[in-house]
Amino acid sequence: MTQGYKFGTLAVHAGAEPDVSTGAVIEPISLSTTFAQKSAAKPVGSYEYSRSSNPNRDSFETAVAALEGGKYALAYSSGSATTANVLQSLAIGSHVVSIGDVYGGTHRYFTRVADSHGVETTFTNDISAELAGLIKPETRLIWIESPSNPTLTITDIASVANIVAEVRATRAESQPLYLVVDNTFLSPYVQNPLRLGADLVVHSVTKYINGHSDVVMGVAITNNEVIHEKLRFLQNAIGAVPSAFDSWLAHRGLKTLHLRARAASHNAQAIAEVLESHVGSSVVAVSYPGLKSHPQRSVVQRQHRDGLGGGMISFRIRGGAAAADKFCQETKLFTLAESLGGIESLCEVPAVMTHAGIPREKREESGVYDDLIRLSVGIEETDDLVHDVLQALEKAAVVN
Ligand SMILES: Cc1ncc(COP(=O)(O)O)c(C=O)c1O
Repeated sequence: MTQGYKFGTLAVHAGAEPDVSTGAVIEPISLSTTFAQKSAAKPVGSYEYSRSSNPNRDSFETAVAALEGGKYALAYSSGSATTANVLQSLAIGSHVVSIGDVYGGTHRYFTRVADSHGVETTFTNDISAELAGLIKPETRLIWIESPSNPTLTITDIASVANIVAEVRATRAESQPLYLVVDNTFLSPYVQNPLRLGADLVVHSVTKYINGHSDVVMGVAITNNEVIHEKLRFLQNAIGAVPSAFDSWLAHRGLKTLHLRARAASHNAQAIAEVLESHVGSSVVAVSYPGLKSHPQRSVVQRQHRDGLGGGMISFRIRGGAAAADKFCQETKLFTLAESLGGIESLCEVPAVMTHAGIPREKREESGVYDDLIRLSVGIEETDDLVHDVLQALEKAAVVN
């Protein structure tokens, strides 16, 4: 039912047909691990064993594929399991090029797991400028996140996709080169990388897609049949699949993605503007893709739906590490916690929390200073959130 409908209609209806046997409008949770067969190797329906496929996982995958504008989606037990499956699809001796400030867990997988399986990764802090020079004959994947975490740097996906397409045009089919975009930070509502030329999109469903901070899950979406076949094989062979219950919950969460993503963007825009008005006093700098001052605002306008900035903000508070910690303790509506993309607002200090594993010098090279605060803006009332940020700023910032 994906033909001609807009995002919100697809979110509610894709993969959500009434149950054929009972008429239930909401699909039942199918807990059975195995499915009866009429005769040997002839299942009654289309299911045999729940690791290989399951009705709730299928429905979720159908819905996400529709929302990302892809033919195929494959769900996993976490965003990290998704990354692992994609990397497992590469042969020994393969090479990957990644943005430097990729999600820490992905960086860890590249450098401490894939590396020991014979897959080498080169990191770059300016992928648009340096990519062409970094691609080698054995390069198989280009891995980007836009915006990046936590500095919210934007990569021009279409321009990277063009470079990838040019190199691919010179290669034999046996030497593929694919562009992977981790779209976790924006969700399929704000950005659809497949439409910008990416070959594969991955998400930590744990964040915006589920949106209620109660499921850990991941998903990969593609239009490419070769990629799909490879990943589908590995999804079953590795078996890092989500439960029927988690698939059902994530599908329920996804039905309101358009409403949540719009509300979070609207709130984040208001907060970012207020924070920006304090630059020079209690705030050192603000990074938010919805601000006119964002250095890649023109790319944002091209690549995000309606030029939305998304729900993530990072800003530097005046007063160093102590002020950043105090700000997060003083907020009443923003809970001090890792993760993002839920209906409730969160704040964190990346230097000592999500990015603590990166040595200071490297961290600061990519803009992650001790005074940087990351906000995941939820869908509470705008005025209440703005008020909360202002009162915490007043108590925490050290202004001379
Ligand atoms: C951008 C990004 N990708 C992938 C992941 C990994 O997802 P998960 O925690 O579901 O394994 C995260 C987790 O924070 C993330 O922020």
